[in-house]
Amino acid sequence: MIEFTDLTKSYGDHTVLGPVSGRIPAGGVTSLVGPNGAGKSTLLTIIGRLAEPTSGTVTVDGLDIHRAKSPEVARTLSILRQENHFTARVTVRDLVSFGRFPHSRGRLTPECVAKVDEALDFLHLGDLQHRYLDQLSGGQRQRAYVAMVLAQDTRYVLLDEPLNNLDMKHSVRMMSQLRRAADELGKTVVLIVHDINFAAAYSDRVIALRDGRVAASGPIDAMMRADVLSEVFDTPVRIHEIDGRRTAVYYR
Ligand SMILES: Nc1ncnc2c1ncn2[C@@H]1O[C@H](COP(=O)(O)OP(=O)(O)OP(=O)(O)O)[C@@H](O)[C@H]1O
Ligand SMILES: [Mg+2]
Repeated sequence: MIEFTDLTKSYGDHTVLGPVSGRIPAGGVTSLVGPNGAGKSTLLTIIGRLAEPTSGTVTVDGLDIHRAKSPEVARTLSILRQENHFTARVTVRDLVSFGRFPHSRGRLTPECVAKVDEALDFLHLGDLQHRYLDQLSGGQRQRAYVAMVLAQDTRYVLLDEPLNNLDMKHSVRMMSQLRRAADELGKTVVLIVHDINFAAAYSDRVIALRDGRVAASGPIDAMMRADVLSEVFDTPVRIHEIDGRRTAVYYR
């Protein structure tokens, strides 16, 4: 379980997050949603220890993320940032192999090679594995970064907008694969996603942020309501039943 308590993040005297507290149970898929600037990336990067909170604590299975030793944290959780600017000329396979660093310390074991193969396969990157990152389309590169995170083979996988740049088919594939990672591999997946219908279709629960606070959270049924979503996204949202599933419509 991920537990965050009284988390805040301030820049100067401007508080962009919190105080927020909450729990994300182990297992399954949890989506973080909310408007631009709501604090989603701030929260996720603090949970993933890429950023320090101004105050508050985060524990993952009881491990205090901001106090524990780096290798222990790296074996517990992996995180995909929203922006990935890799300038080095590396191949897809090399990039995914970097994900093994906390385990291999630079020397890939046979188990590492197997995990790299598995991650490449999981994201259908076999044919692209020897390409350089700058020879890929934006969506192909995005899949390579997600493969790098999955290759770490941690119990917790945090992803900031993994659907960035992906077309319809690859968005569906990505979400199905993350669902499989939770269902078949027992991972706890936490992701930031803008499309509430994707969040609803593939996750177990949703945490909605607005103005640096948790505006609403709960299982899908409790979140897929016109009043809740209109308030969270500050825009009129209608709910329609399509294929027996509550679907948010927010365009004309
Ligand atoms: N380094 C920084 N200095 C000052 N303010 C920052 C900094 N980084 C982020 N912020 C502010 O913190 C707020 C939350 O940003 P955050 O990136 O968490 O939003 P988000 O919910 O992920 O939005 P998006 O959907 O656009 O990715 C924003 O108002 C942003 O301008
Ligand atoms: Mg963000």
